[in-house]
Amino acid sequence: MEHDTKLLGCSEADIAQAAAIIRAGGLVAFPTETVYGLGADALSAQAVARIFEAKARPRFDPVIVHVASWEEAERLWWNVPELARKLAERFWPGPLTLVLPKSQLVPDIVTAGLSTVAIRMPDHDAALALIRAAGRPIAAPSANRFGRPSPTHHEHVLESLGGKIEAVLACGPTPVGIESTVVSLLEAPPRVLRPGGTPLEALREVVGELRLEPPRVDQGAAPAPGTLPRHYVPETPLFLLAGGTLARGEKLPRKRCGLLAFRHGWHDFARVEVLSGSGDLREAAANFFSALHALDRAGLAAIVAEPVPEEGLGVAIMDRLKRAAAGRARLDATWVWISRR
Ligand code: TXA
Ligand code: MG
Repeated sequence: MEHDTKLLGCSEADIAQAAAIIRAGGLVAFPTETVYGLGADALSAQAVARIFEAKARPRFDPVIVHVASWEEAERLWWNVPELARKLAERFWPGPLTLVLPKSQLVPDIVTAGLSTVAIRMPDHDAALALIRAAGRPIAAPSANRFGRPSPTHHEHVLESLGGKIEAVLACGPTPVGIESTVVSLLEAPPRVLRPGGTPLEALREVVGELRLEPPRVDQGAAPAPGTLPRHYVPETPLFLLAGGTLARGEKLPRKRCGLLAFRHGWHDFARVEVLSGSGDLREAAANFFSALHALDRAGLAAIVAEPVPEEGLGVAIMDRLKRAAAGRARLDATWVWISRR
């Protein structure tokens, strides 16, 4: 179905319009602190079905439900443990998604038939205002075509979903820049299904131990469908440099290669995006997807990405980079040099 995608702002009147679209079963992309989400009425199976269509998302991949209060989450879960409340008190609103058994209010299509539902409270005024004005929880995956890099700006949303959805709340860049950390509370210790905007170090302060390996489906564990090995994939082939960053002064003639650099740009690449000149991983996360989108649009033959330190938000950045480069050899700088001569 083709739509004239309406570009709305962040005023109260615009949010009221967006809320009316949600209540009528339509799709609205909206900013959160992490990335833009593609929202629909979480309590309407028909509305949520349209999310899957617009994104070309496989039906086995469940969607996160966004709430504006703890009480709303409690109604959507069943049998809520004390630890969930403790985590919510510390991290909500914020980039932490918690997975627990679902109540009957949640339609099966939201959870892709799983008996659990993933819920979070976003830390963004427009998102919270939209949920409140709609008067219901909002189901929202990231507002991009399935498998592609996530949108951290309303322009990214328009590029991939323009014409497929009713409206976008255009509120500029999203501050955190990387999706929420998804944690399953179905087992003890809790299991991290996806690293994200809430650093593991902060989570450990509340829960103590965490499991990091993906659950073993063959042992009857619930699958973590969104953790596909190949995801966040740009159209331009992306190669991840193995170990270390490029050494200063190396002469690497790469005429049609772009570089996704952590701290330092190298001018002999056709195009360079630096994630954080000061080496700040939060700044790097905030810039990550827009840098990737910019390189992907630059008409390059390949993108070379430097690894970042795997601590704090660096864990989430490296998770995205590894998936974006999955199936391609990891390069060392020498390989790039030889291949471009
Ligand atoms: O920051 C975010 O989380 C953004 C914003 C919009 O809130 N949303 C987002 O949604 O990244 P999405 O659909 O791109 O990723 C949701 C992840 C997927 O990996 C999905 O498989 C997982 O959460 N997930 C959702 N429900 C689940 C469940 N019941 N059990 C296990 N994993 C679940
Ligand atoms: Mg996504």
